[in-house]
Amino acid sequence: MNAEPCTYVIFGATGNLSRIKLMPALYHLEAAKRLPEGTKIVALGRRPWDQQMWLAEVRDMIVTKVKSDFDESVFQSFSKRLYYHQGDISQVECYAELAIVLNDKVSFSRNMAFYLSISPADFGMVMERLSNHQLFEEDEGWRRVIIEKPFGYDLDSAQALQKRISRYLAEEQIYRIDHYLGKGMVQNVLVFRFANVMLEPLWNRNYIDHIQITHSEELGIEGRGDYYNSAGALRDMLQSHLLQLLTLVTMEPPATMDAESLRDEKVKVLKSIRPIPKEAVHSHAFRAQYAQGHIKGEKVNSYLQEDHIPANSITETYASMKLYVDNWRWRGVPIYMRTGKRLAKAQSTISICFRHPPLQFFRGTDVHCMNPNWILMGIQPEECIRIEMTVKEPGLEMSTRTSSLDASFRNQDEKAIDAYEDLLLDVLKGDRSLFLRFDEVEHAWRIVDPILQTWANERDYIVTYPAGSWGPEDSRLFEKSAQTWRSSLTPECK
Ligand code: BG6
Repeated sequence: MNAEPCTYVIFGATGNLSRIKLMPALYHLEAAKRLPEGTKIVALGRRPWDQQMWLAEVRDMIVTKVKSDFDESVFQSFSKRLYYHQGDISQVECYAELAIVLNDKVSFSRNMAFYLSISPADFGMVMERLSNHQLFEEDEGWRRVIIEKPFGYDLDSAQALQKRISRYLAEEQIYRIDHYLGKGMVQNVLVFRFANVMLEPLWNRNYIDHIQITHSEELGIEGRGDYYNSAGALRDMLQSHLLQLLTLVTMEPPATMDAESLRDEKVKVLKSIRPIPKEAVHSHAFRAQYAQGHIKGEKVNSYLQEDHIPANSITETYASMKLYVDNWRWRGVPIYMRTGKRLAKAQSTISICFRHPPLQFFRGTDVHCMNPNWILMGIQPEECIRIEMTVKEPGLEMSTRTSSLDASFRNQDEKAIDAYEDLLLDVLKGDRSLFLRFDEVEHAWRIVDPILQTWANERDYIVTYPAGSWGPEDSRLFEKSAQTWRSSLTPECK
């Protein structure tokens, strides 16, 4: 698929996402000469800035992000694509004015992508108004809308939002972003599974004991108190990014890599997940909130001391859960997932633990314990795939140790690519394989809804964990005592 020139219209262009992700990603695409000629970027913001001020602002965003990699000549060509349009999205005039600007066929491509990096509560209203000004009509070029998560607040609200936006847009025009799918290592999960024949015979309940998916952050809620307090870790990370990782690890090979085949297989996994009955929520899910503690030796506040957080908030900043995919491949294999803010280390990993080999063969030797094989996938910051094997220790004794085969994703001289670069380019190509179809979102909500409802009714108390620790004691989720959270990508001796 070829990338076509387009007018990117960014709603919320002065906000945090634009600052730390979108503008730097577009700049990188410019540097890599991947933005087709004629591509323009129209930023919509409330502040009374003129073109000069906007360019200075974007320069600052990029320098802050790319630091010494900043290239003045790349920025000069990039800045020719940038426009600032002042407008308040809550005011109807904003859309009429925007339509006048965009209808200038000489300056702006007829292909348009509207990027909604705004409060989810405004998605429906903004789309309705864009539609009222005929900005979604595809007579002369395509029109696409990119929607940031969260898509809805629970199952009901996601369905209501979908119903509303499908009045204005066809499904092919909607790009629901889950930026995890743009990460190189996440895409590598599929390559690793489906391009290496030795794995397929092992990739099932006969050989795999359990699977863990961890996303931990050292950061707290970073000034996003209003959003975070109404979301919590389960909605913010588990319902979206972590469930997507689960589908990639457990799905059947799709017939082809086209968007529909891929998404059909992901939906099948989500549909196969055993529903959690309300009365079993406590044995399947755990929540907690960070208390004061230390991160990198610095004292940090508790969640309740953060800005815009009510003193009696019981919003979880840590959530873990256990799921079962009830199909032929995975029946009985527990999948444990956890995420938290202010944990000991920032990393995302998928850890696959194989069954224990029989020890009989080694009776009468010094080998009393052998670690099971693990496949470890480091999604970030370390991007790697490691397979842990037991080998004999050199020497006269028959003793063993764990050795790790490394299939690292990137060589040192290969550059990391940010998830948003890939995704922003896919929009220009019309490739929706790394975006979510509504049924994926819907089934993901179905999985977490019973937990959300139970937690919403239990408002008296929440367990806390010290900031900088590995989170609360939630071992009751595990099926057996030999299963515990794995936090390291290097061999853990037991
Ligand atoms: C976002 C969440 O979707 O993902 C944030 O809203 C979280 O709370 C972020 O910090 C994590 O993304 P990444 O790419 O930094 O792992």
